[in-house]
Amino acid sequence: MSEPTPPSGSAIPAGVAPDPSRSGPGSRHRLEVDVHPTRRDTVGAHLWALGATGLEERPTTLLAWFEAGAADDHPTLDEDLAARVPELAPAARRWSVEPDRDWQSEWKATIAPARAGRIVVVPSWLAPTHEPGDDELTLVLDPGRAFGSGHHATTLLCLELLDELDEELSLTGRTLADVGCGTGVLAIAAAARGAVVTAVDVDPTAVAVTRENAERNGVELHTSTGSVETVAEPAEVVVANLVTDVLVSLAADLVAATRSVLIVSGIATVRRDRALAALTRAGAGVVEVRERDGWLAARLTVTTSGEAAS
Ligand SMILES: C[S@@+](CC[C@H](N)C(=O)[O-])C[C@H]1O[C@@H](n2cnc3c(N)ncnc32)[C@H](O)[C@@H]1O
Repeated sequence: MSEPTPPSGSAIPAGVAPDPSRSGPGSRHRLEVDVHPTRRDTVGAHLWALGATGLEERPTTLLAWFEAGAADDHPTLDEDLAARVPELAPAARRWSVEPDRDWQSEWKATIAPARAGRIVVVPSWLAPTHEPGDDELTLVLDPGRAFGSGHHATTLLCLELLDELDEELSLTGRTLADVGCGTGVLAIAAAARGAVVTAVDVDPTAVAVTRENAERNGVELHTSTGSVETVAEPAEVVVANLVTDVLVSLAADLVAATRSVLIVSGIATVRRDRALAALTRAGAGVVEVRERDGWLAARLTVTTSGEAAS
């Protein structure tokens, strides 16, 4: 899963700045590979691991940008890995060199506030000019180097389901855990509605960005680096926007960490059955499934002994 991040800038790992000595003056290397929707997450993760500084999803292709190599000498990939990932095999790769541009500014110019139900996510650089509508919950976010600008379908679906849950049951005073918090967008939305929120992510950079965004929005969160096992007590509501394979592997732990409502997202529509089967096998019941742009989110119910699930 990838957001439309700029080819360098917010997607560059912490402490890694573009090295002009390793790239041709004024140029970036673009790799295009064909990807079946079921393989999008896996191939995307490999491209990040190979050093991509930006990734863009298209319906049947992935574009990745790399810094390394001289202008006419494309970066050397890990060929052992490329041999095991058919989409990255030498014959399947299409390289091109693009002139360098001010990606960060161009990307910022394309980002507008994103709405999900009553929640509007406003990038920090637009906050000074944003006029909130009636009944709007405005979240001001700086994505930094984490996932969760609020524009990806998987995030918007979660925000919608959370907003509707709040309308139905009120989140005020309820415990909520956000597993895979990224920028903290979901955790901050829930905390702004009065929930007592724990936000966790395996990526320490995401946890740091979450803390900064929580402060920016004046909400308090418990944060920790790790996965669902770092959530100390089962929460009434758990929200997890993770890629399908991770959701499947964590299904039993996510259900065990939930006292009532589990919201999951990040499921490629073509992998619906696999993901939902894992969650129902673990004891959750599907209440609603929602789809957007090839992605699914679901609300599930978990009944724990002595408590009625909502
Ligand atoms: C798709 S992003 C979701 C970010 C944000 N919650 C949103 O909805 O926009 C998934 C996040 O999960 C994190 N992640 C990946 N595997 C994880 C795991 N096993 N446990 C916890 N977090 C994980 C990633 O680092 C990433 O920040």
